[in-house]
Amino acid sequence: MRANGHATWTRRRFLRASLSSLVAAPLVSRCADMESPAPLLPMNEGLRRVAETRSCKFGAAVQAGQLLAKSASARRFALECSSLTPELAMKWERLAPTGNAYDFGDMDRIAQFARENGMALRGHTLLWHRSVPRWARSLMLRTRQWHHVRDHIEVVMSRYGAQVAQWDVVNEPLEIGGRPDGLRQNVFLEAYGPQYIDWAFWAAHDYAPQADRFINEYGLEYDTAEEGRRRIALLKLVEGMRSRGVPVTGVGLQAHLDLRKGKVYRDGIYGLVRDLSGMGLKVAVTELDVHEADTSLSHAERDKRVADETARYLDVVLDFPAVRSVSTWGLSDQTSWLRYGEDSLQGNRGLPYDERWNPKPMRWAISRAFGGAGRTT
Ligand code: G3I
Repeated sequence: MRANGHATWTRRRFLRASLSSLVAAPLVSRCADMESPAPLLPMNEGLRRVAETRSCKFGAAVQAGQLLAKSASARRFALECSSLTPELAMKWERLAPTGNAYDFGDMDRIAQFARENGMALRGHTLLWHRSVPRWARSLMLRTRQWHHVRDHIEVVMSRYGAQVAQWDVVNEPLEIGGRPDGLRQNVFLEAYGPQYIDWAFWAAHDYAPQADRFINEYGLEYDTAEEGRRRIALLKLVEGMRSRGVPVTGVGLQAHLDLRKGKVYRDGIYGLVRDLSGMGLKVAVTELDVHEADTSLSHAERDKRVADETARYLDVVLDFPAVRSVSTWGLSDQTSWLRYGEDSLQGNRGLPYDERWNPKPMRWAISRAFGGAGRTT
């Protein structure tokens, strides 16, 4: 993989020139199979149905409060999604903030809604450096005993293991500019060394052998030196895991698109997905949304730019049979982390629905990318 990844990187200028022919190469995808075009579905058909015609899933991140019975948000999630990802509820610090007991309330509500509506559930996330409760962090660093992590994995997987199809076992393990192997200097690495990733996957395999186990990563979409190095580091990480027999079965591409960085780098993304799927891994788009660059424009122009960037990205990844699911990081701008999180932009319009649950061009772009009907404006 080292040679393959390096070649992918150094060939990028040549690939750019011939990208369109590459993307049209003879890839037979169930998500965008040109041989058998999807039947035209009515405009109000949910994205889950459109995706289903290609044997794919469309999903979104959700907060438990958005699933209150008969609320507009719950109805939209039920109509549009065949997969749900808990945006907050499954994170360690949410489940066990104090260390005295686990509180499964929000997560149970999301799991129940998914069951009642025939949806898959993504297990996000078992290990993420940003969601470790303070008590667990100090215990890990003080004792360096792995069972503290393993116990957490056991508790969560024992409760939801029968329902979750894909687990984000380790979230965001990379950080460029530090260690030569690109691994993030996080609490797990400090306490247990780089082997913590392998151990976490083995533990996840023990508790839910039938499910898929993913590395989930961000910062892989643009033509910058850093994102190029992130693509290579990711390929090297999973190749190393595979060569050691570690049971990783998929990679999540978060896809937090960002118009401030220009346009998505299609040949870089193409090479990444090609190499991952060449290793036999599943690839999922897990957290799609778009950070805007210019909010001084009209809503129509802003929404068009967001939709165009979404289409540009999905057109590349959905050509691969390995990519069977697309999830956005929320459905409506109302609760988007791009409005309220760190690096936020007031009024950002980077999700399929606006804050009043009106569909936007991004929603139609996703529909068209799955081969369904879609307005152009
Ligand atoms: O709900 C409380 C509110 O009561 C309180 O007043 C407020 C004060 O800060 O905080 C609110 O909680 C915040 C929560 O988002 C809900 O908005 C938390 O502080 C904040 O940390 C939390 O951020 C979440 C972040 O993960 C950390 O868990 C984001 O919503 C969520 O979108 C984000 O998701 C991550 C993925 O898991 C991994 N990839 C990147 C992605 C975006 O950062």
